[in-house]
Amino acid sequence: MRKPIIIANWKMNFLRDQADQYVAKLIKKLKNDRQIEVAIASQDLFLPDLIRIADETPVSIVAQNAHWENFGPFTGETSPKALANIGVDYVMLGHFERRELFNETNSTVNLKVRTALNNGMNVIVDVEELEQVAPVLEGVLEEQMQRIMIGFEPTFAIGTGMSASTKGAEDVAAQIRKTIKKLYGINVADATRILYGGSVNRDNLKDLINQVDIDGVLVGKAALDFQTFWELVQIV
Ligand code: G3P
Repeated sequence: MRKPIIIANWKMNFLRDQADQYVAKLIKKLKNDRQIEVAIASQDLFLPDLIRIADETPVSIVAQNAHWENFGPFTGETSPKALANIGVDYVMLGHFERRELFNETNSTVNLKVRTALNNGMNVIVDVEELEQVAPVLEGVLEEQMQRIMIGFEPTFAIGTGMSASTKGAEDVAAQIRKTIKKLYGINVADATRILYGGSVNRDNLKDLINQVDIDGVLVGKAALDFQTFWELVQIV
């Protein structure tokens, strides 16, 4: 019932041609297979190209961040309304690197989540620990939860080559589902996709994705090489 998803988080990598070619190759290889969802989280500059290339294909395009206001004097920021307007499929909010390097907090992430949802967007909200789940979802309505995925990325595992253990990741994913159940009830909890991120690779992906409460993965470093990412897609 929860469709598995694999997301390549490119972070701040690639140039335009590389980005375009990567997605074009992916579409070709997927041959319209829609059993799993494959998504690419790209820096903003490439989004219009990628949305055009991926139109009507099984590949979803994800923005890596957005502001909490739609318009205004926020030099250098990206408007969530503008992202919705160009047709991104999802916006990712609250990634650890945003918190660590750009001072984002539960409260700014929560504002961003609410604005994105109010613009009709689908949101991947990232947390590094269970305690962040309730604060980032504050004020999110039950009917908006169908447009939310939770990405659990433990700090120690991001970009280190040291993934969480399968059991450790599943335990937290199960706790996150319990928290959602407490906040929104069993139906929402059962329907919400929970993803794991942090040093996902060929060796650990199969076990991770086979866990009851892990519905997908966010892949950083291993997704920078197209061939490796394609191997991971096949494992999901
Ligand atoms: O969003 C996924 C990312 O933070 C994980 O990065 O390099 O540990 O796979 P990596």
